[in-house]
This record gives sequence, structure tokens and C-alpha cells, in this order.
Amino acid sequence: MGRLDGKVALVTGGGSGIGRQTSVRFAEEGARVVVADLRGDTAEETAAEIRAAGADATACAMDVTRGADVAAGVQAAIDAFGGVDVVVNNAGITITGAAHDLTEDDWDRELAINLKSVYLVSKALWPHFLERGGGSIVSTASIAGLWAIPDDAAYCASKAGVIMLTKCLALDGAKAGIRANCVCPGFIQTPMIDGYFADQPDPAASREFAVGLHPLGRLGEPRDIADGFVYLASDDARWVTGTALTVDGGLTAGIWGG
Ligand code: NAI
Repeated sequence: MGRLDGKVALVTGGGSGIGRQTSVRFAEEGARVVVADLRGDTAEETAAEIRAAGADATACAMDVTRGADVAAGVQAAIDAFGGVDVVVNNAGITITGAAHDLTEDDWDRELAINLKSVYLVSKALWPHFLERGGGSIVSTASIAGLWAIPDDAAYCASKAGVIMLTKCLALDGAKAGIRANCVCPGFIQTPMIDGYFADQPDPAASREFAVGLHPLGRLGEPRDIADGFVYLASDDARWVTGTALTVDGGLTAGIWGG
């Protein structure tokens, strides 16, 4: 028996990295999954992988920064399997730079994809969750929302925003049975982190430094985060709302690193 049997999940940014692995893990745990991504082709690849393993999944192209796109995507997700029980707000990007170096466009783009998206998707699903008697909102924040990272001002601010928005959603949804939680990953081996290292003056040294920050001695894998989402989305977490679950190999446990 799966921990998400009978549930339907919508996963944004499901075409790559953490979102792809979360979609796959949710399906392994019995959920039917609607995989959404800006890139419809990669979302479809994830859905095809799930179907090849014998579970139900469908894909939709959705830009999480555009209200009309989100409304259409959410409706398509509801129609696909007759309702949505869980949403994973995971789409995100990282644009590095200190505040004084970032362009206004970069700031707006980072905040729109990483933070405004959580507001837009949650708002679009809210009436459906009310009608259904509840729902679970889980989002990908970051340790960068807890601890500042040099030259990463917009990203850190966006992720701190996701943590606080999660708490607001939790309070506003509690009486209606809507739970909201987020996960704060450490550095996870995905295309995004490869891009982050590539942007640094010495990518190899930067990766080695990042590994050394994690007391458990390695970067995280997407599955490490997906398993956190399985817990938060499942009924095992029925009394958990408004929390930021840190899954970071011990990075934020203390100031000396590993
Ligand atoms: P990734 O780059 O592998 O995947 C991100 C996905 O989001 C891509 O498929 C991309 O097409 C999609 N996306 C981008 N803009 C979009 C938009 N406007 N609308 C819809 N989809 C869009 O990255 P990764 O690492 O899997 O990141 C997933 C989430 O995890 C992000 O929110 C990221 O900030 C967060 N995170 C990642 C960490 C890491 O070390 N990789 C650490 C902490 C948090």
C-alpha cells in the first residue's frame, strides 16, 4: 500500500531535477500525478517515465508566473483525474548576484518564478480545496531562505518569502483543512546546481566547498527531497502545517560545517 494512495498531485517544475523525482516518488506511493513545467516536452518525459512504470500521469505546459496560464493549468489538472489533493510548488530558478549587481529585470524574474508562483498556484487551487474539504500545499523553499548566501540576494529573499508565505497559507487554510508546508533543501545534485557552480569563478572548487558544507559528506540527491515531500503530502503529516522541513545533510545544524 502506498502512502499517497488515492491522491492526485500537481507538481510544478516537474520536468527536471527535484520536481521530476518528486513526481516519480509520488507515483510510486500511489498518487496520480499531473506534471507541469514551462517546458511541456520535459514534463511529458516525466509523465511518460511514470506511465512506463505502470502508474497514472499526465503532463501540462504551464508558466507559473502568469496568472492566466496558472488558472488554465490548474483547471486542466483538476479535469485530468477529477480533482487535485496535493500541489507541489517546486518550479524555480537561480540568478546569482549581490543586490547592487542584479538588474531590476533579474530581480523581478527571480521573485516571480520562485515566490509569486506559490501565491498564484495556491490562489488558483484555493476554491477547489475549499469545495473538496481540504488539500495539501507543499513548496520547495531552500536553506537559502534561512541562511544568507553571498552574491545570491534575490534567490535568498525569494526563498525566505516562500517560508513566510507557507506559514500564512497554513494559518489562512487551517479551518478549511488546507495544510501548507515547505522543504528547505541543502545543495542538491540537479541541473540547477550545475548551473550555479558553472557561474562561480572556479566551479570545481565551488563544488568541493559546497560538499564540505554538509556534515553528512555529500550533496543531496533529488530523492532526498522527494521523500520529504512524500511525508508532508501524506496523511502521516495530518497534524503538520506551517512548517519548514530542513533536509540539508546537517548544513544548518551548526556554524562549523562538516
Ligand atoms: P531544475 O532546474 O532541475 O528544475 C527546475 C524546473 O523548473 C525546470 O524543469 C524548469 O523548466 C522549471 N521552471 C522554470 N521556470 C518555470 C516557470 N516559469 N514555469 C514553470 N516551470 C518553470 O532545478 P532543481 O534544482 O530541481 O530546483 C527545483 C526547486 O528546488 C527550485 O525551486 C529550486 O530553487 C529549489 N532548490 C534547489 C536546490 C538545489 O541545490 N538544486 C537547493 C534548494 C532549493
